[in-house]
Amino acid sequence: MTLVRMPCRLCCFLLVVAASAVSGRGRVVTTLPGYEGRLPFHLETGYVEVDEDAGAELFYYFVRAESGADDSDTPFVLRIPGGQRCSAFSGLAYEIGPIMFVVEPYNGSLPRLRYNPNSWTKVAHILFVDSPVGAGFSFSRDAKGYNAGAVSTTLHLAKFLNKWFNDHPEYHANPFYIDGESYAGKIVPFLAQMISEGIGAGMKSAPRLKGYLVGNPSTEERIDVSARVPCAHGFGIISHQLYEMILGHCHGEDYSNPAKELCGQALKTFNDLTSEVAQGHVLQEKCVAASSSPVLNANSRVAGGSSSWASDGRKILREEEMVGRRGVLGKLFHPPALPPFSCRVYRYYLSYFWANDRRTRDALGIKEGTVDEWVRCHNDDQELPYESELKSVVKYHRNLTSRGYRAMVYSGDHDLLVPHLGTQAWVRSLNFPVVDDWRAWHLGGQSAGFTITYSNNMTFATIKGAGHTAPEYEPERCFAMFSRWILNRPL
Ligand SMILES: *[C@@H]1O[C@H](CO)[C@@H](O)[C@H](O)[C@H]1NC(C)=O
Ligand SMILES: *[C@@H]1O[C@H](CO)[C@@H](O)[C@H](O)[C@H]1NC(C)=O
Ligand SMILES: *[C@@H]1O[C@H](CO)[C@@H](O)[C@H](O)[C@H]1NC(C)=O
Repeated sequence: MTLVRMPCRLCCFLLVVAASAVSGRGRVVTTLPGYEGRLPFHLETGYVEVDEDAGAELFYYFVRAESGADDSDTPFVLRIPGGQRCSAFSGLAYEIGPIMFVVEPYNGSLPRLRYNPNSWTKVAHILFVDSPVGAGFSFSRDAKGYNAGAVSTTLHLAKFLNKWFNDHPEYHANPFYIDGESYAGKIVPFLAQMISEGIGAGMKSAPRLKGYLVGNPSTEERIDVSARVPCAHGFGIISHQLYEMILGHCHGEDYSNPAKELCGQALKTFNDLTSEVAQGHVLQEKCVAASSSPVLNANSRVAGGSSSWASDGRKILREEEMVGRRGVLGKLFHPPALPPFSCRVYRYYLSYFWANDRRTRDALGIKEGTVDEWVRCHNDDQELPYESELKSVVKYHRNLTSRGYRAMVYSGDHDLLVPHLGTQAWVRSLNFPVVDDWRAWHLGGQSAGFTITYSNNMTFATIKGAGHTAPEYEPERCFAMFSRWILNRPL
């Protein structure tokens, strides 16, 4: 017994020493597989333990602002992924981060990356976190660590921030913002509220919260979902007669789960009609691969509840197809179904092969034996349960903006999943006086969208031509909006 124990203790001790050497500040990544040459920005990756009992750790990618200015005025942004269990990599490589895929047919070689000239990291430090546990490269040693909900996710993020800032004291003084889109619309204001209440009382190193941004944010299902009806009407997807029928029969109903039969029938016709368009952006091509499965069709309906917002392509990666090839850890690969190359989600397909490549994992410092197979999103995965919990977060928006925190609420104006009309409705319901009335905002001499600002320091803006994940569709306009707002300039 003792003979066995002794060396074991010693080895545990050595493991702890080795682990703490890398956990404090993560690793600086100077080159990435698929990216030619040295990275022209500072990237650090690492893990932070958020549940000691379960051995759960969140993985992060931190990109320092490219402005070169290392001063304490540079805004610092925590980016929370959309979807209930999507990786932070989507924000990093498809939306607001400094890299993007070269979109070319996958031929078995590592997909290539290039620089994104519209990266928000040009003006801000951005910390991208794989949250909750189970998203991206975040993992738990004990299966119970994978049970997540909006509340536990937020508590983990608070803990994550506390530890991260402890290890990076040079960023304490920077103005701190939280940013997220889609489902993260629930987490962002809730986390901001927690931080503002000094969840961080015990936090030696609470960040200096200034405000937050939410894009096409899930906020309150009833509002978000019912807004699809006037939006589809305005886009010319449903008839005026159907529009009036829904208004007449569905008054006060839960559109995701209508009790009245006539309302249910009208919404069924509504679902049939809206399923003819890509709901994340009504003008885009519908992806054949993404819509061929009955599961996908069901989820793209109004009555899809919490998952319906994710129908535009995000589900495609869950459609697994055995190909019998051995992957990084000797397990079978389950690559997503192949979308047509012309489909914009083709770039999502590339990420699977990039992130599961041994070279990528070595470069990022992924711990052995933690995440066998990386997938971009795990929505509705039976093995990774998720409790939605927060029905409405309007009260947090009200509370935060009454207390001086700044808020930017933006909407890609061609999204039918969380349409701008619903978002505008809850923004108006806060009832603050207008200080800068509805007007166009411009880029390159053209209107880039429309905006209004209220006395509570909340600005609402539309992004002309953008869909559900706005920066994916209109990167220049979104970068202009972000950089003006975060630097306290008018849009
Ligand atoms: C795949 O395409 C890339 C880029 O066009 C090329 O460099 C590479 O050699 C190709 N690999 C294979 C295995 O054909
Ligand atoms: C906001 O929330 C805090 C903490 O729960 C509470 O003390 C405060 O009264 C609230 N403020 C407003 C304006 O609702
Ligand atoms: C709005 O934000 C600005 C910039 O941070 C701040 O100076 C101002 O006091 C805020 N206004 C309100 C009403 O909180």
